[in-house]
Amino acid sequence: MTITVVGAGYVGLVTAAVFSELGNKVYCVDVVPEKIEGLKKGIVPFFEPSLSEFITRNIKAKRLFFTTSYKESVPKSQIVFICVGTPPKESGEADLTYLFAAVEETAKNFNHGYTLITIKSTIPIGFEDQLEATVKKHASSKFEFASCPEFLREGTAIEDTMHPDRIVIGSTSQKAQKILLELHASISGERIITDIRSAQLIKYAANSILATKVSFANAIAVLCERMGADVEKVLAGVGADRRVGRSFLYPGIGYGGSCLPKDVLAFIAIGRHFDYDFQLLQAVDSINNDQIENFINKVKSAVGGKEGNLKGVKLAMLGLAFKPNTDDMRDAPSIKIANHLTDLEATVVAYDPQAMDNAKRVIKNIKFAKDAYSAITGADAMLIITEWPQFREMDLKKAKKLLKKPIIVDGRNIFNPKTVKEEGFTYLGMGR
Ligand code: UDX
Repeated sequence: MTITVVGAGYVGLVTAAVFSELGNKVYCVDVVPEKIEGLKKGIVPFFEPSLSEFITRNIKAKRLFFTTSYKESVPKSQIVFICVGTPPKESGEADLTYLFAAVEETAKNFNHGYTLITIKSTIPIGFEDQLEATVKKHASSKFEFASCPEFLREGTAIEDTMHPDRIVIGSTSQKAQKILLELHASISGERIITDIRSAQLIKYAANSILATKVSFANAIAVLCERMGADVEKVLAGVGADRRVGRSFLYPGIGYGGSCLPKDVLAFIAIGRHFDYDFQLLQAVDSINNDQIENFINKVKSAVGGKEGNLKGVKLAMLGLAFKPNTDDMRDAPSIKIANHLTDLEATVVAYDPQAMDNAKRVIKNIKFAKDAYSAITGADAMLIITEWPQFREMDLKKAKKLLKKPIIVDGRNIFNPKTVKEEGFTYLGMGR
């Protein structure tokens, strides 16, 4: 099939890479010329394992093309995937400016007998009529809308798209269903075929249950600290029940990234729109925000003396990205933590294996070190912010020598408290 993918962000590039790998001819359109010029040479504007290899291979095989021109791609395409960003507005609602612009440009360039506009962007429920009206303003040829939400995780995006748990197809049109089923034929995973609204709701509900699990784990962690229990054992015990599962029950400094925080807020806003007060998700969001404060309080109690004073204290932040295997700093808890610490007049030195360039743009007033050991040299404490594997494997004897004080505040519970205490560290984890 010939496909256009609009939007060369995470979802768009991975979608384009995977469908071209599966033998389709794919055009990826984006309005930013520098991005497109880079991509034509195989330069991916962010870090995602294997993505650059996939893109380069399919450019060479002449199955994947990058362009700023809808005119070059849309007329040839049977399916147009809309993968543009829907960032949050101040109110938490999704900003649909890019979505409507993309649909409008697509509609202006229809030339195929029938075009299936398939929305992968996460968009609020109830915009079908407005989207149809936008297309009809510009196009007379046949078209239909479908929703095909994306569930990929950063860091494992290719694997998640090639081998997903499910493929959701939101359309009541038999023709649209057939086209999308055919396109996904060689991809495994359960097929869930439904109407557009249900498909869109699946996406919001899926991200919200993940966020809920994380906040639940964080709430249990707080209780464990107060009761003198070990959260890791408690949640291992809870997660061993197959009805619950262990995944997303790891406490820490809260969920971040480009999806969970924004989708939880957007889902609350959607609820409001449909006259539903989503109290559960309000609590999920609020617990998530509290984790930053909880972590800062730990740092204060570990190194700030009786008063919890951090003025002039040197702190090493290990990890900045919102999770490992990505350079993404969007809504990373590290931003709030760094700002909070510098507001308290601490000196902060940070290191992240991938996210330093992006971090420098969004975190000011801190220093950046060339590696983890340089970051902790002379520091009053080592703070674990992102659970990169290399931090787990650090030489603790060496770390102890380099630190001014042997203190670890482990925001991701990557260390075994017993082992680090035996090495002579003061250790504070989350909920243990
Ligand atoms: C998420 C969804 O998982 C994915 O299906 C959707 O398509 C996009 O949003 P992603 O943003 O890549 O993916 O990150 P994810 O792996 O879900 O982690 C989100 C955040 O939750 C991270 O900050 C992570 O550190 C945190 N988290 C996750 C925890 O704190 N504890 C956990 O147990 C799991």
